[in-house]
Amino acid sequence: MSEKFKINRFVHYVGVNDRKTHLFENLWPLPLGVSYNAYLVVGEKIALIDTVESCYASELLEMIVRTVGNRPLDYLIVNHMEPDHSSSINAIRQAYPGVQILGNAKTIQMLEGYYGAHQGIIEVKEGDSLCLGGETLRFYLTPMVHWPETMMTYCEREQLLFSGDAFGTFGALNGAVLDQDMDLSPYWDEMYRYYANIVGKYGSPVQKALQKLSGLDIRVICPTHGPVWKKELNKVVGIYDKLSRYEGEKGVVIAYGSMYGNTARTAMRMSKELASLGLETVVMHNLSVSSLSDVLRDVFKYRGLVIGSPTYNAGLFPPVEALVNALAARNVKNKVYACFGSFTWAGAAAKKLQEFGVTMNWEIAGEAVELKQGYSREKTEACALLAKNLLAKL
Ligand code: FEO
Repeated sequence: MSEKFKINRFVHYVGVNDRKTHLFENLWPLPLGVSYNAYLVVGEKIALIDTVESCYASELLEMIVRTVGNRPLDYLIVNHMEPDHSSSINAIRQAYPGVQILGNAKTIQMLEGYYGAHQGIIEVKEGDSLCLGGETLRFYLTPMVHWPETMMTYCEREQLLFSGDAFGTFGALNGAVLDQDMDLSPYWDEMYRYYANIVGKYGSPVQKALQKLSGLDIRVICPTHGPVWKKELNKVVGIYDKLSRYEGEKGVVIAYGSMYGNTARTAMRMSKELASLGLETVVMHNLSVSSLSDVLRDVFKYRGLVIGSPTYNAGLFPPVEALVNALAARNVKNKVYACFGSFTWAGAAAKKLQEFGVTMNWEIAGEAVELKQGYSREKTEACALLAKNLLAKL
């Protein structure tokens, strides 16, 4: 086993990389792939922390044997039951019939429900520990980061945290595992996108988990996806802290739909007004072209948001409606917001978008700019005023 897969004396990486799945959860694009990270903690006893997607089970088993030879696994610790991490559990049980599975009460009912597993299972509670002889693991329940059963496992002597989905990123690993051994530039945006797509609804549980972890000395974070964090640990925790407080950077996302280009012209006008006022970061998304996944990433990343839509069947244009629904589902907070809409014979979009901002309790920059039929030069003044007000609140 290469040294690159050794996190420290006791902990080894045995995860896999998936570059063939196009959509994570059959929903979110994976242009750079994704890793399913699993780890072995090797003391006098051996514990496996989480597993991998079932189609990679044989690769996981091979990695385990390469790491510990013929020694049997004593424990399988299930930090998270989502099948990207749990669906090789039965393969592990078959290969290691004596393995004992550790999880909390919620994990245990999911083990039965997903895999019919009800024997050889040990329930752990908040703060319980497991001595491996040479290393002690302690368990912290972190519900809703990202499912109700999620927990984290802390290696006390090595000050290493197995964090589950928290601090994870999209993007397969390209050889190295530790952040200090790789070019991290592809992973930062993928971290924002992963958070916004997968964990974004659970800002408050993430904050609770961060509070709980703040008492621990942590030198290494081993998440279930993406690099293992050591060198950039503080930066990563800072990103998660900001994201879970819905605290965006200075910048504005303009997300719009447009059927024949008139609403798009309003979007362009808004972007030009913001730029002429000196705002450097304006991110435009034509919602018929951009992936919802990328739009959510940018909405979480930046504080300002402008949404525009034509009226369509007396409501919002469908791609705009999809964004609005995704933002509501994630209970996105703390936005400075403006909107615009258009119609041909009966306006609905501008009013609906304005009401949406109020419902979300966002800071509203002003009245929606509304366009009847074609874009006209008179709208330039209204866009300029809205952009000015938006920037003042940013
Ligand atoms: Fe990576 Fe919530 O599973």
